[in-house]
Amino acid sequence: MKHILLGVSGGIAAYKAAELVRLFRKQGCEVRVVMTESAMQFISPLTFQALSGNPVHTELLNADAENAMSHINLARWADVLLIAPATANTLAKCSYGLADDLLSTLYLAAQCPVYVAPAMNQAMWHKTVTQDNIAKLKAHGVTVINPESGEQACGETGLGRMAEPATICQQLLAEPVVRCLQGLHVLISAGPTREPLDPVRYITNRSSGKMGYALAKAAVNAGAQVTLVSGSVSLAAPDSVDVVRVETAAEMYEAVMANAQSCDMYIGAAAVADYSPIVAEAQKIKKHASQTTIILQKTQDILAAVAGLASPPFTVGFAAETHNLEVYAQKKLHEKHLDMIAANWVGREKGGFDSEQNALQVFWKTGQKTLVMMDKIQLAEQLVLLCAEKFNEKNTT
Ligand code: PMT
Repeated sequence: MKHILLGVSGGIAAYKAAELVRLFRKQGCEVRVVMTESAMQFISPLTFQALSGNPVHTELLNADAENAMSHINLARWADVLLIAPATANTLAKCSYGLADDLLSTLYLAAQCPVYVAPAMNQAMWHKTVTQDNIAKLKAHGVTVINPESGEQACGETGLGRMAEPATICQQLLAEPVVRCLQGLHVLISAGPTREPLDPVRYITNRSSGKMGYALAKAAVNAGAQVTLVSGSVSLAAPDSVDVVRVETAAEMYEAVMANAQSCDMYIGAAAVADYSPIVAEAQKIKKHASQTTIILQKTQDILAAVAGLASPPFTVGFAAETHNLEVYAQKKLHEKHLDMIAANWVGREKGGFDSEQNALQVFWKTGQKTLVMMDKIQLAEQLVLLCAEKFNEKNTT
């Protein structure tokens, strides 16, 4: 049973922490709650006591109120410390190592993984000093569950609302990265392709490569030998990954096919051009008529080519859609003979292209799984776990 120590600091989102306790208990976790003085202005300790089934801890130096558990014992008891909501003040105290109440002292004493789910007014969230504190906490190994954007209690709209309890719960209880791809060679494509029109212009798309690079990192952490075929992006190569840089869809096809025969798994996260100009002019196209036409021809479908090999690797596609997500994803899964497809919405406010976060609806022939909106790094870890699970099922039946 997982022991979760939940620190609640003082913000309107404190009421959402009650739902968190309920969700954790439903998953079989034991929860103990620590509240700051200002949290108690928003919600009563009795609520948490009733929901957690344990006394609530509020004071650093009062032995009775500590209910026979010192802050050191509480810190030792915890498998994970989650601070939700984490106010700007609490984040600042943790980042500077101040210990003037029970929660900040527990943060210092904790040797377990620490998660924070910030919640505050959007201007406070964007303030440089808050962002510096967040960066510092991340550098100290704290996992930050980013706030969401939307209407705030203060009437403003923007980034700063605490992530939804279901999102926090899913992220916290996700299995730790296990060496689920140990010994496998995983080939991943990432980023956009560029299709030249002339020496100075090209057709491309909005892919940043973040999703594919996060997958490469997660696959390495899961024990795989990883080859990453990358379109032009401005990301640093993840450690221990073999990167093959390409520009056009044709180059990506060549690089992927050169590795596809020898890999165990292929994940196509790249946004490959479906069409490319029939002619790339040798000289810059000059401006003459008021309208002009570019003739495009279909590129080769890399994903379909990999899945169509005589002895194909476990093949995972992506589907990026602005409408009919499930219908189009299922169509690609069946028509291209894939093992799995990860479908994401694009062109929306959150997720998809060039965003730090994403959500996926993953389909395979006999089932599906939803991975809710979260950082691409964590999302990639969850997708890798799912790929490994389905890979093992396929190779043991
Ligand atoms: O890079 P980011 O900014 O992090 O954004 C991530 C992402 C949105 C690019 C990523 O999550 C994603 O959805 N990648 C696939 C984008 C895409 O091209 O989707 P599609 O539905 O058009 O293509 C379906 C699949 O066919 C994809 O796996 C694609 O790699 C593959 N394909 C497409 C055309 C082609 N000629 N060859 C292919 O292999």
